[in-house]
Amino acid sequence: MQTTLPKTDSGKADENQNAKPSEWTASETGLDKSLAGGIEAEASESGQQPYGKTYTRNMWYYALPSEKLKKGEIESKVMMGEPLVIGRDKEGKLFALRDICPHQAIPLSAGPFDGKELMCPFHGWKFDTSGTCTDIPSLCSDQKMNLCKIKTASYPVTEVLGSIWVYFGDNPQDLPEVPHAPGLDGLKFFKNTVTLQLPTHIDYAVAALIDTAHVPYVHKSWWWRSAKALKEKNKKYVPSGTGWTMVKHQPSKHSIAFKLIGQFIETEISFRLPGCRREYLTFNGRTFLSGITTLTPIDETHTELNHTTYWTLPIPKFFADPVLNYFVTTFLKQDQSLALMQENIINKYKPRLIMTIKDAGTPGHWYFLLKKEWNSSQTEKRPFKNPIKESILRWRT
Ligand code: FES
Ligand SMILES: [Fe+2]
Repeated sequence: MQTTLPKTDSGKADENQNAKPSEWTASETGLDKSLAGGIEAEASESGQQPYGKTYTRNMWYYALPSEKLKKGEIESKVMMGEPLVIGRDKEGKLFALRDICPHQAIPLSAGPFDGKELMCPFHGWKFDTSGTCTDIPSLCSDQKMNLCKIKTASYPVTEVLGSIWVYFGDNPQDLPEVPHAPGLDGLKFFKNTVTLQLPTHIDYAVAALIDTAHVPYVHKSWWWRSAKALKEKNKKYVPSGTGWTMVKHQPSKHSIAFKLIGQFIETEISFRLPGCRREYLTFNGRTFLSGITTLTPIDETHTELNHTTYWTLPIPKFFADPVLNYFVTTFLKQDQSLALMQENIINKYKPRLIMTIKDAGTPGHWYFLLKKEWNSSQTEKRPFKNPIKESILRWRT
């Protein structure tokens, strides 16, 4: 299977090099040097600000909920700056191809798909689901061409727990684990997916996704929590997979929802590269709710967020879907409005940012370390070594 290497670097010189430094820098704020130091060191090492410039390479990225692609259907979608046509053949097998006809650059997704082959709408060339050309109708019987040399790139694609993922990278022989929702092994579930666009590079979207300090300010609502007095929190984190896990604990008593549910509930929250926040809730040890929020770069300045909720309780979809769509969308739109304001400023003024504050900002710093280590391990063709150390983080929220 052919793959294309996504663009991982903007290749542009860092505009911030010439920008007027703002009055606050990490070192001036007296932050823990080990926190701020990592960011500063990387910035000068690469000549670029570490945030907002690169992607996590050789990784699975969330594409679509499975139900969007029935047998014999295709969907076009830009991911990682590449146009893709993702489809399911008549046997149900998934495929993902570069959505550009190698003849004269027409999107293959604009033509018909018969469940076996895609036909380009310009000159009728046909392509199988591996991206290989199978027919050029204009050729006369004595005009021979080696059609199997004409290809559009194909991407590894897989389906886990009702979600479709595409791999972007140059090492398809050694595919990493798909960062799916946790706690659902052997359980039957219903699922719901809410999709939202963010006007930012994935790095800023990840920073907001794993940031806890914004919650009392951005997510104010009667059903979640109010912005009353902040309380100190204290949580244990351990390295796990390509990220970390905040070890099992009772959920926040801040929210009215959790106050009502009682003492038998535990939650475990974790993070996985490239930008997946995962959480599940158990009642007496059995998962009743699980969720994964995934971030997929559309391009360098746009990111798609998909939040998938799974529930194992016998609550039918027709009843749960409208409720989930309302609450999840309301919650995520609160984040989206901040992302809009932030992106306007970043694009226009390119300020120098303080991305880490002890300890609320530590997960954001960890993300940066994980991404750097993952990309280095892929370049150097060696095993990934999780750079996170077991820690207790404290913050007020
Ligand atoms: S552009 Fe696709 S067949 Fe010519
Ligand atoms: Fe948020």
